[in-house]
Amino acid sequence: MLEVDDLHVSYGAVNAVQGVSVGADAGRVTLVLGANGAGKTTSLRAIAGYHRPKSGSVMVGTDEVAGERAHSMVRRGVVLVPEGRRVFATLTVEENLRVGGYRAPRAKVQRTLAEVYEQFPILSERRNTAAGLLSGGEQQMLAFGRAVMSQPKVILMDEPSMGLAPSMVDSVMAKVREIADTGIAVLIVEQNADAGLAIADNVSVITRGVTVWSGPAESASRAAVHAVLGESALEDVPAEGAPVGGVDS
Ligand SMILES: Nc1ncnc2c1ncn2[C@@H]1O[C@H](COP(=O)(O)OP(=O)(O)O)[C@@H](O)[C@H]1O
Ligand SMILES: [Mg+2]
Repeated sequence: MLEVDDLHVSYGAVNAVQGVSVGADAGRVTLVLGANGAGKTTSLRAIAGYHRPKSGSVMVGTDEVAGERAHSMVRRGVVLVPEGRRVFATLTVEENLRVGGYRAPRAKVQRTLAEVYEQFPILSERRNTAAGLLSGGEQQMLAFGRAVMSQPKVILMDEPSMGLAPSMVDSVMAKVREIADTGIAVLIVEQNADAGLAIADNVSVITRGVTVWSGPAESASRAAVHAVLGESALEDVPAEGAPVGGVDS
């Protein structure tokens, strides 16, 4: 569905991303793990068309789309749930959701809205509340629901767990799994390895702007993730576990 190969992105002289390769498939959750500053946000923004990559390939289906702008990527079915959620604080929940469905005809928006309310009951309950009054977790659900409103093929999610209470993190991750299971490809970037690994099918690890490991979630051992990301990535690490890219004993 989405295939990113050897992506390079820079800010002037700063080479923030210098060799990120990752893919996302329908119905699957692909987790990109990386420490603070590893280049996760830069990669997602470049894929979503908010920042032009210096080089590399971004394929959606059989089309090469690297460098296309965000509105064109949304039309192709690739939508970003940004870091920090970025909901419109003074608009109600429902108004925020309608912004997500802005491209569709009115009757269709109504239908999609009903579906999103069914998938996100919390948003249904809060539909007339200003988004700025929601809790962080509710705002994350809203940003997620707003993306689903565009009926995407691929959702890119930037650190949804950031700043949320642990129970809310679990709810958001469960919802990510649920939405992927409807057939959408989800590419989620996280520093919270435990939360991400709980729902991921595939994992990529990036360090200093480079993909250093990719594989199925089962073989992304906690110890390996710990070794790459450092102490903060996991709450507790078991003594056993294969090295990065290693095989099961
Ligand atoms: N607007 C910018 N201008 C210059 N450097 C930036 C900018 N945004 C991010 N960076 C740098 O790019 C690198 C990657 O940042 P980012 O993609 O935000 O990482 P992450 O999301 O993994 O924390 C960091 O070294 C960061 O300081
Ligand atoms: Mg970031």
